[in-house]
Amino acid sequence: MEKEYLVAEINRLRREKKAVIMAHYYQEKDIQEVADFIGDSLALAQQAAKTDADIIVMCGVHFMAETAKIISPEKKVLIPDVKAGCSLADSCQAAALKAYKEAHPGYTVISYVNTSAAVKALTDVVVTSTNAVQIVESFPKDEKIIFGPDRNLGNYINMLTGRQMLLWDGACHVHEQFSIDKIKALKAQYPQAQVVSHPECKQAVADFSDFVGSTAALITYVQKSDAKQFIVATESGVLFEMQRLCPDKQFIPAPPQGSSSENVCDYMRMNTLEKLYLCLRDETPEVIVDESVAEAAIKPIERMLALSVAPKQASKALPKLVFATHNVHKTSEVSAILKDKVDIINLSQLGCNEEIPETSDTLAGNALQKARYVYEKYGLDCFADDTGLEVEALDGGPGVYTARFAGEGCTFEQNVDKILRVMQGVENRKARFRTVIALIQGGKEYLFEGEVRGEITPDRVGEKGFGYDPVFRPEGFDQTFAEMGPDEKNKISHRGRAVQAFADYLLNH
Ligand code: 13P
Ligand code: SF4
Repeated sequence: MEKEYLVAEINRLRREKKAVIMAHYYQEKDIQEVADFIGDSLALAQQAAKTDADIIVMCGVHFMAETAKIISPEKKVLIPDVKAGCSLADSCQAAALKAYKEAHPGYTVISYVNTSAAVKALTDVVVTSTNAVQIVESFPKDEKIIFGPDRNLGNYINMLTGRQMLLWDGACHVHEQFSIDKIKALKAQYPQAQVVSHPECKQAVADFSDFVGSTAALITYVQKSDAKQFIVATESGVLFEMQRLCPDKQFIPAPPQGSSSENVCDYMRMNTLEKLYLCLRDETPEVIVDESVAEAAIKPIERMLALSVAPKQASKALPKLVFATHNVHKTSEVSAILKDKVDIINLSQLGCNEEIPETSDTLAGNALQKARYVYEKYGLDCFADDTGLEVEALDGGPGVYTARFAGEGCTFEQNVDKILRVMQGVENRKARFRTVIALIQGGKEYLFEGEVRGEITPDRVGEKGFGYDPVFRPEGFDQTFAEMGPDEKNKISHRGRAVQAFADYLLNH
């Protein structure tokens, strides 16, 4: 099924059914893009506890859906693929844990959230990788503790806290597979890169890392760090969010043993956009937890939620806004300006491959035409822009014809050739760029404008930017737009100013 159709249907169904779509960072990109909330396992559990939706669609693995059901038993909890399990959770069966507990009377059982409901029912307190150290440290130093099922995480906590918890002998096949030799080879190739890893990795990987942390902690770390390159040793889905938040940093997936270049959790990736659509449409597979098991399992989960002080909330996925363009340069320019305010998706990411007609004789008219097209077809808030280069000597032209100055379907190169040709020998080289942005939000229409004055240079200068950038020098500067970095250009450019006016509006409304 076409992505465009699936996204439109998912949007319609979630509205009609009052459903919330939650996704773990290990989900494929298409799912992360449609989700209402994206988070690590703690954030998703916290979100499940407070949502007022009627249906929770948990795009993650089975234990995450089970945890949501235990926390919110009155809600219908769905999972796109019921076979999305977890090798770590499977490594600890309830009967085996019961026997181990009986063999160790007087021990407190601390279980990782990656466990079945039946194992949680035998547990004193649940933890996730985000709060594990904090919760273990909430017990007296001499508390006798059984920690399971991840031996690497347990070992890491023992090392950090100086405790000697008894460790269950389980591991996550995804995180255990990172090859320390390949990570070292990558580090030799990228000597400036920092290595960051999840505590489910083997100790050799943790020892070699600049930072070890849970999914949420890794995301926060790469945002705050001054480093520009990172070798990331965790499931590679996390790289989507890292790259979205830090578009100018480079994230290199740490390679596993074998021939693959990145590590994915096959269970997590069983969920697909199509299965998400089908599960919303048919309201199946539903996750049900036996009532008596749920009654026992809720206690250690509630204890965890209470002990998670200063809880890390699920990052409420930023409000999504469709940018009615296929132009990836424009998308990344605007995303860089709006990165903390809205999540921009362009037409290709929406699955819309059509060229939207622009037949108006004004920039505002064209921008509105494109935004209305998307709003009417997809029912999503959206914005569109139109930009014109207005040259004094050409009576304000090419204006609305800027993108097709050299003819319908022409390239930017051909446009630049033409402007240099028609301006050859012309003395008055004054020009201005104007951008108009049309926003449609909740059915209402708004316009924002930005302009920059300057001149057309006699030749191309600079390699950066796109479009007419190599031949436009802004007033008061001795460089063309194509010689400036994106930050410098965005501060003064027509689009930068229009987007700033647009961003100020979004921030204040
Ligand atoms: P987080 O708790 O970091 O989300 O991890 C869950 C998981 O499955 C790790 O493999
Ligand atoms: Fe389980 Fe590992 Fe997949 Fe996480 S990455 S869900 S621990 S198998």
